[in-house]
Amino acid sequence: MAFERVGVVGLGTMGAGIAEVFARAGLRVIGVEADAEALARGRGHLERSTGKAVDKGKLAPGQRDEILGRITLTTSREDLRDVDLVVEAIPEILDYKIALFKDLDRICEPGTVLATNSSSLSVTAIAAATGRPGQVVGMHFFNPAPVMKLVEVVGTVVTAPGLVADVAALAGRLGKTAVAVGDRAGFVVNRLLLPYLNQAAVLMELGVAGRDDIDAAMKLGVGLPMGPFTLLDLIGLDTAYEVMGVLFDETRDRRHAPAPLLRELVTAGLLGRKSGRGFYGDPPREEPAKSRPATFGVTGAGGDGLAERLRAAGFKESEDPDVVLRLADRPVIEHAVRLPDPARMVGVHLVGDHVAELASTALTSEEAASAARDLVKIAGLTPVPCKDRAGFVVDALLFPYLNDAVRMHDSGYASIDDIDAAMRLGCGYPAGPFEMLESLGLAKVRDGLRALYTEYREPAFAPAPLLDQLVTAGVSRFPRP
Ligand code: 3HC
Repeated sequence: MAFERVGVVGLGTMGAGIAEVFARAGLRVIGVEADAEALARGRGHLERSTGKAVDKGKLAPGQRDEILGRITLTTSREDLRDVDLVVEAIPEILDYKIALFKDLDRICEPGTVLATNSSSLSVTAIAAATGRPGQVVGMHFFNPAPVMKLVEVVGTVVTAPGLVADVAALAGRLGKTAVAVGDRAGFVVNRLLLPYLNQAAVLMELGVAGRDDIDAAMKLGVGLPMGPFTLLDLIGLDTAYEVMGVLFDETRDRRHAPAPLLRELVTAGLLGRKSGRGFYGDPPREEPAKSRPATFGVTGAGGDGLAERLRAAGFKESEDPDVVLRLADRPVIEHAVRLPDPARMVGVHLVGDHVAELASTALTSEEAASAARDLVKIAGLTPVPCKDRAGFVVDALLFPYLNDAVRMHDSGYASIDDIDAAMRLGCGYPAGPFEMLESLGLAKVRDGLRALYTEYREPAFAPAPLLDQLVTAGVSRFPRP
């Protein structure tokens, strides 16, 4: 099927990005917005995005003019009559989308393919509202659309044979990689990504750790391109809230209930980048590194490297130290209560080469917590202060995400390679979840999930049976066909 003329309805961040992607690939685009004001905003997105590319020398001014010249902007949906494909990118509310698709069905030629960029809503429900359910698919781009390489192409039980492959081929022509999936809430990426982002908000509300510390842990410790709060601001808190609601409605998994903090911020109009303020937007508070001398002790398996690092940074080990750093293997408090002065113990979990999570127990003194932060900073690590809770920050966010990926694959929804590719290309992750599982070690993740389950009694934290069985069998890689 040849796609040469496409329509894009909704020119917010995503719609404008999608229009740009089509125009860059040489297709003619009709961009539709509801009114003149929204249209002007859409034009602004397109001009800024391509203008930045010119400033960076990625695009010649003439090429930019050609790209913008391929895009016609209008407030009339009727102008979509002759296009080959329409991609819808309006807000994530099913009733709005159904009303739009009914209208598109009336306006467009019978052969026109109608695609939704929905993040999570039922493509089947949208298709069923039209007189051409076989011609309706999901075409899900990722923010920023000109940059992220993934397009999820969503087929339903009534999609015409061959259409998913045709739309996937179109994605290839746009320079994207398509992953074809069935119609489940959140598809692959949002089903795995959004619960993790939501859980980050929950951890913050529970006071396990702060915004900047959680972001630093996931970015610097795990190597993700952005921490969860920076990413929530990029996606838009309103979109994230709607997606979580859709996930919850399908799964009834309480982890998918939108974090109350999200609701509060959305109601306050703090939507993230698009409104200028979300989790971020207030002036940053940088705590200066202090160089207060502290003596230390290190206990627990694997502490030699840390002790060496601290000695190299000029700190002294002592039999009566200011702070005892305990490499954590179980709740830190269990070790602390055995010390003459439990107030001095801080749990440590080293994440990668750059991050040290520092867990304070109910008995840790502010002096010891602060001394631990100073020590690890001067030793060249980023401290992530947190509470003594199973998984601290990183494992509490990362392991359930990995477990969800195993369950998703085991349910037959998507292959290991597709899930890995989707997370790498859709979110810029350095590795997909199965690649991460295999490099961390299956047993370590399984044991970490058990600890999380024991602490929180959250059913979804129980290790996926497939993961558990592979560990029991002594297998270190997931079987691939
Ligand atoms: N539009 C166009 N190009 C953009 C852009 C934008 N909004 N933002 C960044 N870029 C380009 C830059 O121009 C730069 O291009 P260059 O390498 O050719 O010069 C490139 O992207 C890298 O940008 P920067 O150097 O400024 O910044 P970073 O290296 O920090 O990268 C990022 C920015 C690409 C956004 C990176 O941080 C990233 O990959 N973050 C993760 C984004 C993510 O997870 N997206 C998916 C969200 S989920 C979703 O969208 C689904 C939805 O349904 C909810």
